[in-house]
Amino acid sequence: MKISNILAGLFACAISFGAYAQQPIVIKFSHVVAADTPKGKAAEMFAKKAAELTHGKVKVEVYANSTLYKDKEEMEALQLGAVQMLAPSLAKFGPLGVKEFEVFDLPFIFGNYDDLHKVTNGAVGKQLLAKLEPKGIRGLAFWDNGFKSFSANSPIKTPADLKGKKMRIQSSKVLEEQMRSVGAMPQVMAFSEVYQALQTGVVDGTENPISNLYTQKMHEVQKHLTLTEHGYLGYAVIVNKKFWDGLPTDIRKQLEDAMEQSTRYANQIAKVENDAALDAVKKSGRTTVYVPTKDERLAFKKAMVPVHQKMEGRVGKDTIQAVYKETG
Ligand code: LMR
Repeated sequence: MKISNILAGLFACAISFGAYAQQPIVIKFSHVVAADTPKGKAAEMFAKKAAELTHGKVKVEVYANSTLYKDKEEMEALQLGAVQMLAPSLAKFGPLGVKEFEVFDLPFIFGNYDDLHKVTNGAVGKQLLAKLEPKGIRGLAFWDNGFKSFSANSPIKTPADLKGKKMRIQSSKVLEEQMRSVGAMPQVMAFSEVYQALQTGVVDGTENPISNLYTQKMHEVQKHLTLTEHGYLGYAVIVNKKFWDGLPTDIRKQLEDAMEQSTRYANQIAKVENDAALDAVKKSGRTTVYVPTKDERLAFKKAMVPVHQKMEGRVGKDTIQAVYKETG
C-alpha cells in the first residue's frame, strides 16, 4: 500500500474517531408523573446540571408521564439497561424483592418532612439504598414528594367512610394492609391508568400527594378530597449499576455533583409544589376539600397504626425500629 493511502486511511480514522468522541453519553431518565411535578421538575434540573457540569459530554433525555415505560416495566427496563435512570416511588421496590423500602409506606410513621429527612439523609437511608446493589441497581438519592390524602366520590370524615370502597394503591403490601385496616378494598394499578379507572368507576377512590392528584386531573373525577396526610410518598433516584460504574471517573463525579444539586432543588420545591397544587384544586371548584379535625385525624391514625406491627414480618422489625429511633 502506498504511504499516501495509509496516511489517508489514518486521517479518515482520526476524523471518525473525533466524531465518535464528540457523541454525548446519553442517559435515558424515565418517569411516570407529569413534567410539572416535584419529580418532573427535579429530573429536568438534573438534565440541565448534567449538561452544564459535563460540558455537554452527557445528555440526559427525560421521558415524563409514562411515555416510555409504565411502573412495572420501568424497573425491568432499568435492569436490562434499556434506560439508565429512574426515580420510582419508594412504594414500588417490593416487587423487586427489596421489601424494606415499604417502611416508608407505613401510615403515620413520619410526622413531617423533618422526620422523613432524618431517615433519608441518615444511616437508615444509606443502608436502604445499599440493598439495591445486588439487584444491579445503584441508589443515588432520595427525592421528596409529599404526604398523601384520600379522595373519593363521597365524603371521607371517618375510617368507616372508606369501608367497602375500592381504593387504588401503588404496588406495596404495606399499602394493601393500610387499606384493609380501614375496611377498604385495595386495588394495585399502574399510575398511568388511575385517572381512567376513577373516571369509569373501576375504582372508587385513591390516595395521593396533591401534586399528583392535580397534575393527573384526578380532582376532576373525584368529588371529595380529605386532607388526611396519613402517609408519605417520595422517590429513590436509581441508575443501572453497570452503566454507572462504567462511566469515566471524572464524568461520574460531575454527575454526582449534578445529582446533589438537583436533590437539593427537589427537596426545596416539593412542599411548595404540593401547596400550589392544593390551591389550584380548591380554585377549580371540582372537588370539595375537607380538613379533618384533630380528633377525626386521630381516628384514622388509631385505625391504621396497627399496620406497623402487622407488617413487621414483611418490612423487618429492625428497619421499623431504626426509623422510630431516627424520628424520635
Ligand atoms: C403513584 O403510582 O401513585 C406514584 O408512585 C406516582 C409517582 O411516581 O409519584
